[in-house]
Amino acid sequence: MQSEKTTAVANSNIAIIKYWGKRDARLNLPQNSSISFTMDAQLSTLTTVEFSAKLKHDELLLNNARASSNETGRVSMFLDLIRAQARIKQKAKVVSGNSFPKGAGLASSASGFAALAAAASKAAGLKLDDRELSALARRGSGSASRSIFGGAVEWQAGTRRDGKDSVAIERSPSFKWDHLRNVVAIISSQEKKVSSRAGMEETVRTSKLFRQRLKDVEKRLDTVRKAIAEGDFEAMAETIMQDSNSMHAVMLDTWPPIRYMNDVSWAIVEEVLAFNADKGKAVAAYTFDAGPNAHVYTTEKYAKEIEARLVSIPGVQKTMVCQIGEGIRYRTEHLF
Ligand code: DP6
Repeated sequence: MQSEKTTAVANSNIAIIKYWGKRDARLNLPQNSSISFTMDAQLSTLTTVEFSAKLKHDELLLNNARASSNETGRVSMFLDLIRAQARIKQKAKVVSGNSFPKGAGLASSASGFAALAAAASKAAGLKLDDRELSALARRGSGSASRSIFGGAVEWQAGTRRDGKDSVAIERSPSFKWDHLRNVVAIISSQEKKVSSRAGMEETVRTSKLFRQRLKDVEKRLDTVRKAIAEGDFEAMAETIMQDSNSMHAVMLDTWPPIRYMNDVSWAIVEEVLAFNADKGKAVAAYTFDAGPNAHVYTTEKYAKEIEARLVSIPGVQKTMVCQIGEGIRYRTEHLF
């Protein structure tokens, strides 16, 4: 028996209140709720899945190349969750491609596992709603739970031990944010030395400052939820920067210390602060993930000016300007 070939596309998301630290590693349950904006299709993953009795093992092709055994293993474990739920045994062929250039340091497990969750669950005959899809994507990678939805998205940490309430919800649709931009500054294309998975585990285990971060995050979540409800970017700009700083501070407080931002990242921080000082208000907000590349949120009005300032910083290799995008979509054209 052969399943129906299914193709899905998911966009990446960039958090403004960060997820860093799990309370359950197997179920991928976070210590705190997080909030992100979903990016446009410039940062997306397209994935086709087909289950087939003819296959002896799962096959994974990533960006036109056979995936490493590590990558295939992680995907196989994720497909096992779907096979168990759908009560099927067939192995799958998975072909996946990112829209962003390989080695741009933008590779994201968020768009990858969101697209895989959508394509593979449908190919297996499961009919999941967005909430169930978000919970499934979360098992692949925490941040992927947010990429099921478009616009402003909150991944609610939840309190249940089985994780059933740890899913994302859409806080505000993308069309309400058509004036918002993420000016991405690519500094390094290197693979990160410490994976977020390993890094957050060490932080939870060794950082005392992390306890304080969890308290502060609750206040910042309230500020950001209110600003999102009011469609007011400037009301949350400082909070976005403070939350990024807080995450990178607990990384540094981890033993052994973890450092993702470099001197170029810090030059960008200073440039954004100087820009806001020039304008007399916070019109731009930087945020950094587990790497040195910068994401500077701002409005359409200032995007070009910010981009020009970032381009002139030595060490910035490339910039791109993203808009706020949609959640998961299905395609009738397949990758194989
Ligand atoms: C720094 O979702 O990649 O980007 O759940 O272990 O796969 P796993 O981690 P992942 O972590 C992303 C962390 C972050 C902040 C964020 O996106 O909220």
